[in-house]
Amino acid sequence: MRVQLNARNRAFHFEVEHGEKVLYAGLRAQAGLPYECATGTCGTCKAKLIDGRIDDAWPEAPGRKLIKPERGEFLMCQCAAQTDVSIEVASFVYPADPGACRVGTLAGKVGAVRALTHDVTSIDVALDAPCEFDAGQFMAVNAPGVRGMRGYSMVNFERPARRLEFVVKKKPGGGFSEWLFSGKAEGARLELLGPLGKATFYPELAKNLLCIAGGSGIAGMMSILSRACQESYFDRHQGDVFFGVRTMRDAFFLKELSDLKRDRLAITVALSEEDVPASAASGFPLLRFERGLVHEVAKREMAGKYQNVRAYLAGPPPAVDAAIRVLLLEAKLTADCIRYDKFS
Ligand SMILES: Cc1cc2nc3c(=O)[nH]c(=O)nc-3n(C[C@H](O)[C@H](O)[C@H](O)COP(=O)(O)OP(=O)(O)OC[C@H]3O[C@@H](n4cnc5c(N)ncnc54)[C@H](O)[C@@H]3O)c2cc1C
Ligand code: FES
Repeated sequence: MRVQLNARNRAFHFEVEHGEKVLYAGLRAQAGLPYECATGTCGTCKAKLIDGRIDDAWPEAPGRKLIKPERGEFLMCQCAAQTDVSIEVASFVYPADPGACRVGTLAGKVGAVRALTHDVTSIDVALDAPCEFDAGQFMAVNAPGVRGMRGYSMVNFERPARRLEFVVKKKPGGGFSEWLFSGKAEGARLELLGPLGKATFYPELAKNLLCIAGGSGIAGMMSILSRACQESYFDRHQGDVFFGVRTMRDAFFLKELSDLKRDRLAITVALSEEDVPASAASGFPLLRFERGLVHEVAKREMAGKYQNVRAYLAGPPPAVDAAIRVLLLEAKLTADCIRYDKFS
């Protein structure tokens, strides 16, 4: 089936397979369609149906609060075309950058599943075919018997990548969480779509890096730091990482972060619900530990140090929103210097 898409600036045509979501088909066809979560929560992929029929796979999607179905509006990440369709997108849409990694469908098998804390697990996925992604990107992932896709950021950075590493924070009652934490995951086959997301890091950026992560938001930062260290980026530029968790019991990747530590890379762990225990600094002498919410600790430590900064933020939406406010209002960074993923 064919999609005719009229954006504010130009038209695109692309083919969509039976049951395939319009957003995913458009991204595969290199159209830079608007999206953030790619999984039904944010409403960014809003479009208007002009002609033809679509099927909405998830009418209860939270992102539908931001659309007006009575005006023909729908979420491209949740709807598949049932016929040839003509749709409109209110924003400017450009072809994907020629150098950008191509979005495609992938499949792989879950290998090692490793508990990192009482409610965070790391999973390794061996891909059937290698893929390329940029540091900071995520995949939409579908697990057997779980309806819909979930976004998970890659932790590793290799090019080409034959395996992907993810960390998953357990959400009690959540579809993917319950599947993963029930012990059924090892050896299971996953379908993936990606790479997705614009919170990407390239060594050519030539800016100081500021990373603010809440909980599992550290996933994509590990990929960014891994790529930056592979390219000796911190020989030339400053890096500041703030990793927020509630207590030391919730912290993970502290050994991996210590291994990434460089002279010009400062890594601070912010504990929001307990004073810093003495054992933290003695166990991980290369890391700094502070008490406070991660955006407040970052605000305190970064005062006067925002020159030539590109900021990356990830984690629960309230944590990301609070950090964005600090960066716009206190640090006076412009929006193009802030990249984020809200784990909604
Ligand atoms: C860009 C991005 C990156 C993320 N990276 C990470 C990460 O690295 N680590 C991490 O722990 N979490 C990450 N998340 C959050 C993650 O995607 C899940 O929301 C979280 O793991 C809870 O999933 P769940 O299935 O357990 O909970 P659920 O409440 O079952 O589902 C959560 C999400 O799944 C989708 N969903 C649920 N039901 C349906 C349905 N019937 N049909 C279609 N879709 C449905 C929706 O997007 C929903 O918000 C990320 C989210 C985004 C948007
Ligand atoms: S991109 Fe479709 S709702 Fe977020």
